[in-house]
Amino acid sequence: MIAPSILSADFARLADEVKRVEGADWLHVDVMDNHFVPNLTIGLPVVQAIRQVTDIPLDCHLMIDDPDRWAVGYAEAGAYNVTVHAEAVHDPISMAVDLQAAGAKAGLSIKPGTALDDWVEVLREYDTLLVMTVEPGFGGQSFMPDMLDKVRSARRMVQTGHLKVVVQVDGGINADTIEAAAEAGADCFVAGSAVYGADDPAAAVAALRESAARHTHG
Ligand code: DX5
Ligand code: ZN
Repeated sequence: MIAPSILSADFARLADEVKRVEGADWLHVDVMDNHFVPNLTIGLPVVQAIRQVTDIPLDCHLMIDDPDRWAVGYAEAGAYNVTVHAEAVHDPISMAVDLQAAGAKAGLSIKPGTALDDWVEVLREYDTLLVMTVEPGFGGQSFMPDMLDKVRSARRMVQTGHLKVVVQVDGGINADTIEAAAEAGADCFVAGSAVYGADDPAAAVAALRESAARHTHG
């Protein structure tokens, strides 16, 4: 699955920008609060507005403090998947239960410095694992290949049935890096600058998907 990130879109023309990626599997919406990360983007009203102009499932990536307080609002706004950060959430089990009760898939994200092992038992309650392959906060950064160990480890746990998560990667995914991420076992790829920096974003999504599929095992 390819999830274009609208962080790299033109915010003055969001509805049009969303239409330029029809055919994407998920639409990735980066919510930043200037506290958890040093950047401020968009919040609930914008997610509600986007929901009205597309049928692409919305994938809200909350880079915010105290998601326990705010995340369910995104599920209630119709987000398909709502991802909170392990480093920010206070009660991760209740968080997953509450998101699912509100009708969304529950995602947990780990920053580059956060070990996967510490979160494995919690992840048994979750639907999505987001492995950050850059430090969260900004688009257009370079992919961190060392993060693929976490992807491989998560894929093994899915294969053995210990976890049931979608394994998503976010940060620096492009035509050059997606193959390694797919080989490591990721099955959902967020791409911001690689999609919206392309002349034809829909074609970029299709090309990324083909490239990932060619390098996916079994
Ligand atoms: C970064 C965001 C990413 C960002 C990725 O904190 O979580 O979703 O949009 O952008 P690229 O694909 O340009 O690295
Ligand atoms: Zn993101």
